[in-house]
Amino acid sequence: MGAGVLGRPFQRRDGTLWCEEVPLEAIAAAVGTPAYVYSANALRERYRALDAALAGVPHRIHYSMKANSSRGLLRVLQAEGCRADVVSGGELFRALRAGFAPEHIIFGGVGKRRDEIVAGLEAGVLLINVESAAELEIVEDEARRLGVRARIAFRVNPEVHVANAHQYIATGSRGHKFGIPWGDVPAVAARALASPHIELAGLDMHVGSQLLSLAPYRDGVERLAELARLLQQQGAPLRFFDAGGGLPARYDAEDAPDLALFAEIIVPVVQSLGLELIVEPGRFVVAESGTLLTRVLYRKPTGGTDFVITDAGMSELLRPSHYDAFHAIESLRPRGGQATVDVVGPICETGDFLARDRQMDDAQPGDVLAVHTTGAYGYVMALTYNTRPRAPEVLVDGSRWAIISRRETLEDLVRLEAETLEWKEA
Ligand code: LLP
Repeated sequence: MGAGVLGRPFQRRDGTLWCEEVPLEAIAAAVGTPAYVYSANALRERYRALDAALAGVPHRIHYSMKANSSRGLLRVLQAEGCRADVVSGGELFRALRAGFAPEHIIFGGVGKRRDEIVAGLEAGVLLINVESAAELEIVEDEARRLGVRARIAFRVNPEVHVANAHQYIATGSRGHKFGIPWGDVPAVAARALASPHIELAGLDMHVGSQLLSLAPYRDGVERLAELARLLQQQGAPLRFFDAGGGLPARYDAEDAPDLALFAEIIVPVVQSLGLELIVEPGRFVVAESGTLLTRVLYRKPTGGTDFVITDAGMSELLRPSHYDAFHAIESLRPRGGQATVDVVGPICETGDFLARDRQMDDAQPGDVLAVHTTGAYGYVMALTYNTRPRAPEVLVDGSRWAIISRRETLEDLVRLEAETLEWKEA
């Protein structure tokens, strides 16, 4: 499956940019800027493409909610048969609130608190992905107390080498904080297998994020399979083989991931083990479905590169300043002509930028820009720094659109502050 298969939901027509059958200018006029806009059909298309690619083996797609956990978007995926992967008590709450059945939820995360583990057990999630011997002890302890048998998977650090886009999104190499260190797995498994309160039902890995080469999957899958065989011999009642997330999105000129090759790497291995495949994609499903609309406030010449100052910045999209990430930017209605500029936000930080030294449409004050591939890790990483209300999220489906999260108000931003102080004596 190549680059051509996955469509681009944002297309230029009549001199302006559309999302599906809705001109983005109409959304900007109605809800203001900044605003995130998502295409429902882009979500469906990606979910279906992955589902079809994995058809050769029993599988479950657990969308990684950390990429974007808004209910309006979850509902679209849910209607497709998609399940959920959560990494906190908060995401578990959101998943249940969105109507996911507990047995359609898997619960991972490197630092789950005891109360979060209890919430997972009480809800009856499909799997709790355990990341350390110490966490296993707490899961066992709470399962005993609740009188349940905890169904768990081990998240293992496959310790494969991954050439990541940025060191901050590398997760599956030796020395990273994630997963049970490879060498420790047999000992931790022995503990799990000896416990009447634990059912070791799966193995899980996540080799990394935005994986432009599928080679790390090949290495990781082989290693995880080796471990699965070993544990099966030791009597582990394994049912699930979880290959994690990490399929990439197109931010610039990247190819779409080769889903046929992805399946070719994973499916035969999982079949030979007699297990059911789980995948936890986040970015692949939602990134390209989204764009961030922002209005140009000022154009500031500095003698060198001009600054285009926009009403969105690191508060709406942290990725450029946090990972030096590239996001394509274009004007909804280009004036003609190009300029090389720095696109910066209004926040009092030099690191507040959306693009640096970028050749792009020659944007002037009043113009609305679309910052692309922002469906994943955009809204969920939004900040309210400088007391900036979070921007609304809009879902487009064909020729219809709806606000799925309203713009935060100034009142919302001070809602948690105490009106009068209730002092306690020490
Ligand atoms: N499963 C596990 C265990 C993960 O740690 C992650 C992402 C995923 C699944 C989903 O990965 P995806 O398919 O989205 O690559 N904020 C960063 C990305 C952090 C990803 C962390 N883990 C960014 O904006 O690039």
